[in-house]
Amino acid sequence: MRMVDIIQNKRDGKEVSKAETTWMIDNYAKGEIPDYQMAAWAMAVYFQGMAMTEIADLTMAMVETGHQIDLSTIPGIKVDKHSTGGVGDKVTLILAPLVASFGVPVAKMSGRGLGHTGGTIDKLESIHGYQVERTQEAFVQQVKDIGISVIGQSDDLVKADKLLYALRDVTATVDIIPLIASSIMSKKIAAGSGAILLDVTVGSGAFMKNLDDARILAKTMVDLGNAVGRKTVAVVTDMRQPLGTTIGNRLEIAESMAVLQGGGRPDLRHFIAELAQIMLSLGGVTKSIDEILTHLSNGAALDKFKQMIEAQNGDFDDLLNTPTHETAFSKVVLSPKSGYITDFDALVAGHLAMRSGAGRAVKSDRLDMDAGLRIFKKIGDQVVVGDPLFEIVYNKADFDAELESQVMLDAIVIADEKIEIKEIVEII
Ligand code: URA
Repeated sequence: MRMVDIIQNKRDGKEVSKAETTWMIDNYAKGEIPDYQMAAWAMAVYFQGMAMTEIADLTMAMVETGHQIDLSTIPGIKVDKHSTGGVGDKVTLILAPLVASFGVPVAKMSGRGLGHTGGTIDKLESIHGYQVERTQEAFVQQVKDIGISVIGQSDDLVKADKLLYALRDVTATVDIIPLIASSIMSKKIAAGSGAILLDVTVGSGAFMKNLDDARILAKTMVDLGNAVGRKTVAVVTDMRQPLGTTIGNRLEIAESMAVLQGGGRPDLRHFIAELAQIMLSLGGVTKSIDEILTHLSNGAALDKFKQMIEAQNGDFDDLLNTPTHETAFSKVVLSPKSGYITDFDALVAGHLAMRSGAGRAVKSDRLDMDAGLRIFKKIGDQVVVGDPLFEIVYNKADFDAELESQVMLDAIVIADEKIEIKEIVEII
């Protein structure tokens, strides 16, 4: 086989066979196919798309390029969860302990943030002492002992994706539905859980900017999961504004703690409870929204979070006593007019938080765990001129808070008519 023929066939809109796909991915992972040929193939996929059988072949070929996690010694249906990326997305931090508090085991590998999106692993590392790297044995044992572990993705899981994702990142080939679907699902399949909840975000802060694309991505991933015997459900969720009221590592941990203590915004609590209901049902447990919310108010979910942090060497008491750390600088921005918030652009807010120090522009950037954004008004909220809209907290002396505030203000729309949005747009 020759890579040039595979590229040419894809370029000309012909289907690529399973044997060709497997050969290509296997040899790419071994370093025998150069990046320039893979990049040409990815761009051909952008223009020609892929048939469902090709996407399934690609996904399974990618799974085969790394280690697969064996969770079979943990009793019960293990349920995984994955978000396609968002701004202020702290769902895993609340949802995982909440689900585990009902006895459904959660063995989850999460990622780091890049660009405007944050990563659960970075947020957890803002907890003093918390270890995100565990051996597979320790990971499995912890889930057996306490029903929950959230760790960083192991290096030898889906090697081809690591290479291909880095290549796509620099060749304008990230936002291609078949490549996103195979990238995410190969990692989920290799991670070993029997059931998967996918949070497919849509809106300015997400990869998918419109509902039609989000639906196609969601359906593609659900079909991929179900085809290999993983019960898979996708929830399309609104990411036109940041999730919750904070963006930034420690800020989001503190907000998650507040929700786990029965506080936080009611809409965030309710959204997480709805996701928990789906995840629990994938794990064979039926609970009402009220029963689920009770585990946020009675300390059951908080206790699971505490157990997980302590099992991974984190200092829970420090977190409880000092949820956030003061930064050297802060700037509160007030509303220039009265009305209702109808837009609070998640992409702009994500970029602002990144530049404040909370995120990375490139992989090697160091994070400021305490920097970020506090949001006081969200879409649907009423504001009166002079009300605080948001606060930027930061430590970098060269951060231009005046300019950044103006850019954010320009991306917030205040109108006369109230609009309502629902976090869950549809379930697929
Ligand atoms: N997240 C992934 O893991 N892969 C993609 O391709 C896009 C988002």
